[in-house]
Amino acid sequence: MSVTLEDNRRTAIAVKLADMEATQNLLIANEKALIEACPDREISNRLESFLKDDQKNLGIINTVIVQYGIKAEVKPSVRKMIEKATEAMESSELSLFEKVAEHELLKHSQTMAGLLVHKAGQVIGADIAVAITPLNTVNFENRAHQEQLKGIMEVLSTKELTGQEADQGLWARVQDAMAAVSGIAGGLITHTDNEIGICDLIRLDHTKVTSLFKQMQNSNDPHKLEECFGQLYKDLSAHAEAEEEVVYPAVRQYYNDMQKLYDEQAEMKRVLEQIKEMDTADTEQFKTAVVALMNAVNQHVEEEENDMFPRIKSNFSHEQEKRLATEFKACKSKIQDQCLAEQAK
Ligand SMILES: [Fe+2]
Ligand SMILES: [Fe+2]
Repeated sequence: MSVTLEDNRRTAIAVKLADMEATQNLLIANEKALIEACPDREISNRLESFLKDDQKNLGIINTVIVQYGIKAEVKPSVRKMIEKATEAMESSELSLFEKVAEHELLKHSQTMAGLLVHKAGQVIGADIAVAITPLNTVNFENRAHQEQLKGIMEVLSTKELTGQEADQGLWARVQDAMAAVSGIAGGLITHTDNEIGICDLIRLDHTKVTSLFKQMQNSNDPHKLEECFGQLYKDLSAHAEAEEEVVYPAVRQYYNDMQKLYDEQAEMKRVLEQIKEMDTADTEQFKTAVVALMNAVNQHVEEEENDMFPRIKSNFSHEQEKRLATEFKACKSKIQDQCLAEQAK
């Protein structure tokens, strides 16, 4: 019996992340439409700042999906919900207040989705927590947007129902509510997504892989071993391929031992295939093979971090490092898309 690479619980979270990405695109489209329709300066300024946050957060969600390492299709019911919401936003039957109210509901469901992915991830494995940490920023900003949307709804509904202006102290109240939210979640913010360079991005992958090895070392449950190995197989394969396609060729001229890194990865891929054919029910034999792989991977990681990284740091500008990071991420994403397409066959 060979190892099954798919795991239902991990796939379920991948679907949730795909849903979040689709919803994020809808939030952005809604905000553009609302800005267009809104005559109030204070409100449209706030919507403009949501839009800026949400465009940045779409990038963060993309990054989290690639770090998570499994792609999935959006759930059909979510796709339908998005179609209906898009229609509602375009409809002339709804007032501006009603459209903002719809948008607030959507924000709420996005906030909840982010929090639930976080909670579910914690139950499954520490490697998921590593991958989805940047979602904290998205969740926190969505909470702050919700507080402001409540204020916007108050202004619009008062106007629509009474023809009068809302209570003067409204925005001060909103400010207080946002401060309370940031007191809880503010410390979790990471603003590194667009700034991250190639070395940090590679290190993130290494940390995730280390976490998977640790979970396997600490478990004798064949199912847990199978689940972690499935993820490790995917992560190491995509990581190595993206390094070989993007990073190694760029660094080659500054690094003498490059062939060694290629050779080590070729050997690693061979061992991955070998372990994939083993049976996790024979726990001892399986774990012995995994420990041998772990030692080889650790040594390879050390060479990259201690020898290759300094070469990158001393020969590439921060801009170049960021560009390599973007290419590395795109390459991994492409590999994960291919995986998804193969599964669908
Ligand atoms: Fe490598
Ligand atoms: Fe690496």
